[in-house]
Amino acid sequence: LREHEEFTKVKNIAKIELGRYEIDTWYFSPFPPEYNDSSKLYFCEFCLNFMKRKEQLQRHMVDGKKNKVYGQNLCYLAKLFLDHKTLYYDVDLFLFYVLCECDDRGCHMVGYFSKEKHSEESYNLACILTLPPYQRKGYGKFLIAFSAYELSKKEGKVGTPERPLSDLGLLSYRGYWTRVLLDILKKHKSNISIKELSDMTAIKADDILSTLQSLDLIQYRKGQHVICADPKVLDRHLKAAGRGGLEVDVSKLIWTPYK
Ligand code: ACO
Repeated sequence: LREHEEFTKVKNIAKIELGRYEIDTWYFSPFPPEYNDSSKLYFCEFCLNFMKRKEQLQRHMVDGKKNKVYGQNLCYLAKLFLDHKTLYYDVDLFLFYVLCECDDRGCHMVGYFSKEKHSEESYNLACILTLPPYQRKGYGKFLIAFSAYELSKKEGKVGTPERPLSDLGLLSYRGYWTRVLLDILKKHKSNISIKELSDMTAIKADDILSTLQSLDLIQYRKGQHVICADPKVLDRHLKAAGRGGLEVDVSKLIWTPYK
């Protein structure tokens, strides 16, 4: 999946069924033309194959795990909830990290993020999605922290999410950046530079600057950006930023660099 800004097209699929949820979609997604006359599609929640009829899905569930086009299907599904993105079919260029809730029926996808195997623009995440029934439970924060954590601690690179960000994407990232930066500023008072913050957090300097500017913690003195962080102001902002997400248990992370 490769995403770029694109003119918003009229929504084609109104609803999908995925596992035990029927979900209203938000945006257009470029399904093959033969699917465009269906207002509802049935997704296999394991391999993400999609079908026009429930009976087809029931038949498919027998051997759905064998499907090889999971990445492409995930992109079709995701595009239903992502505006201003273009779908390309070169899924080979990306890694997909799928987050599941597990119970005795198996693992149920709640969201995912994709990441370019090699990014020239230092993107650490291409697309992020939490499926609507699972939103506002902290999964987005978890995925953001996970992707950033992986980047910072394991790859030792500064990174940023691919643009454009959606409104919800920006809200979630701003929340993450705010919490991480304010926690550090509380410990170091103002005696720290944007470069040092970037080295400590792997957050790109531009994202640090825009976050601190939005919190009114930056002054421009003698041609330089200076962080001005009154402890009381920091506490007020931290309270407003709310809780972090589910914590990433680093000891459970198994990771080797992609070659
Ligand atoms: N209204 C107001 N604030 C919101 C909303 C909302 N509907 N959704 C998220 N937020 C803010 C809140 O501050 C929230 O924290 P809180 O619940 O403690 O107040 C914070 O963002 C993150 O909440 P999470 O529960 O951790 O995030 P969620 O699991 O809902 O996922 C995501 C966030 C991934 C952006 C989700 O809204 C989504 O999938 N949206 C559709 C797809 C999309 O826009 N993806 C980002 C595109 S940009 C890109 O991919 C690089």
